[in-house]
Amino acid sequence: MGPSIKTVDFLVIGGGVAGLRAAIELASKGSVLVLTKDTISESSTGYAQGGIAVALSDEDEVCIHYDDTIKAGDSLCNENAVRVMVEEGPGYILELISWGAEFDREGSRLSFTREAAHTRRRILHSHGDSTGKEIERALIKKARSSPSISRYDFAFTLDLIIEDNRCIGAKVLRGDSVINIFAKAVILATGGAGQLYSKTTNPMIATGDGIAIAYRAGALIVDMEFIQFHPTTLYSVGAPQFLLSEAMRGEGAVLKNIRGKRFMPEYHDMAELASRDTVTRAIVSEMVKTKSKHVYLDLTHLDKDFVKTRFPQIYSTCLQYDIDITEDMIPVCPAAHYIMGGVRTNLDGETSIRGLFAAGEVACTGVHGANRLASNSLLEGLVFGARAGKKAVSYISEENTDTSAAESGHRKLVNEGRSSPKPFDAEKIRSTLRQIMWKKVGIIRCSKSLAPAENWINRWEFIMNASFRNRRESELRNMLTVAHLITESALLRKGSAGAHYRSDFKERGEHWERHTACVKGKAPYWID
Ligand code: FAD
Ligand code: SIN
Repeated sequence: MGPSIKTVDFLVIGGGVAGLRAAIELASKGSVLVLTKDTISESSTGYAQGGIAVALSDEDEVCIHYDDTIKAGDSLCNENAVRVMVEEGPGYILELISWGAEFDREGSRLSFTREAAHTRRRILHSHGDSTGKEIERALIKKARSSPSISRYDFAFTLDLIIEDNRCIGAKVLRGDSVINIFAKAVILATGGAGQLYSKTTNPMIATGDGIAIAYRAGALIVDMEFIQFHPTTLYSVGAPQFLLSEAMRGEGAVLKNIRGKRFMPEYHDMAELASRDTVTRAIVSEMVKTKSKHVYLDLTHLDKDFVKTRFPQIYSTCLQYDIDITEDMIPVCPAAHYIMGGVRTNLDGETSIRGLFAAGEVACTGVHGANRLASNSLLEGLVFGARAGKKAVSYISEENTDTSAAESGHRKLVNEGRSSPKPFDAEKIRSTLRQIMWKKVGIIRCSKSLAPAENWINRWEFIMNASFRNRRESELRNMLTVAHLITESALLRKGSAGAHYRSDFKERGEHWERHTACVKGKAPYWID
């Protein structure tokens, strides 16, 4: 039996900040279908804690936000993309507030906090440390008010449908059935890939699907070696890798090693508020020096009531593990948090494939360079989600986007199933891969760690080249593909920049100002 068929004007793959904002932009121009592979609340957006950066406070200016972003990105940002984000950001935030998003206030004035590498207090937050949930709530409410937006939850996108280098839809697994969904334009907003690492802050959905399916479709993928590791996640046996927001350091928390010594002033003038890559490597260095699996985050000198009201979610979560953050130092260690690279887009979300747009963490606009400035990703998702939506609207009005001929072709296709690779234990490989990525392609890399990782991943090439009708196996295929791209790009960049640190090439190295690029069928190469 052939797959069933559905046709819409716009297909948005992903229901986090980027996908929802794009869908809202598209709503008045045609039918929009938003896909999520789990429930709508299971996204990195929903878990975001610290806040959203925007130059709206009296002490701030757009040009200072621009400078801080460029500096954190270690000179590898796309300056035009940064300019667009910081200049348009305030307008999109005010619009979000007009849709009902509530940010914390002091009296009637918005309250701004500080995070690492920001030279101003510019981070808006909600309910203390649940900013993502509030942004998501406001966007879902706005999307629900539009009758042209519909949603399929638990709809796992397997692959894109491409005809003549034009994206005309996606093959989607819903329950046990595959549906071919045809659309005049497709927006990819599938988020990040933290689940590739055994230690991560990311939710289970973050398996790099969008990057892998775009790569298989022939899209240009860039900057994959730049993985951001968050310095402070809860270290406690049996506890999840729960994030301890950088905003805690912004409000005065300090880092101490297991001997109780504060160490960050020895590593950087900005101490605990140095950029994330600097703080993460300093923590690793202290863990090695003291032969410990963690350091401590200490807030015990701060006012107890302030801590409880400013970080209510973190306070109550840590209590579940018998840590009272107002009285006890919190054991912390770094974990994989964000991918700076991804599907390359221009300032309007266009990818190298016509009809395929990308926004949010799956995309690489170049805004983050080699190291993302804290709280810039929610802003990026909002600004570039909207811009991708706008461009998709003009794309379908300017180009012949009729998909009917292709639809009838695909209607005749026999439904693809597993292409019978040799038997394998998907869960075992997934777990082994995550540990290899953490140990060998992690915070500190070198050719002696990267080359064996690459050998391991190549052993599983038969899975990367197969096709499946099962979410876990398809996710594994995607994870292997993305792991391969990260490792190859990390091998190519024989130098250190931002979050990519090679112990065998500590200086910037040749081509440092260029970008690594991956396209299916070619060895990784350099582009400008
Ligand atoms: P997501 O919000 O992750 O959404 C991805 C969507 O894609 C989901 O709906 C998912 O179901 C769907 N999807 C994925 N694969 C498929 C598939 N194959 N088929 C169908 N659907 C699919 N950033 C900040 O700016 N400030 C913060 O304070 C902050 N805190 C963070 C805290 C945590 C714990 C984490 C994990 C991240 C944090 N970040 C923060 C980063 C930020 O949250 C993310 O980068 C951002 O939310 C990504 O948004 P997105 O829309 O691109 O993807
Ligand atoms: C945090 O709250 O520390 C996360 C902020 C971010 O990732 O931007």
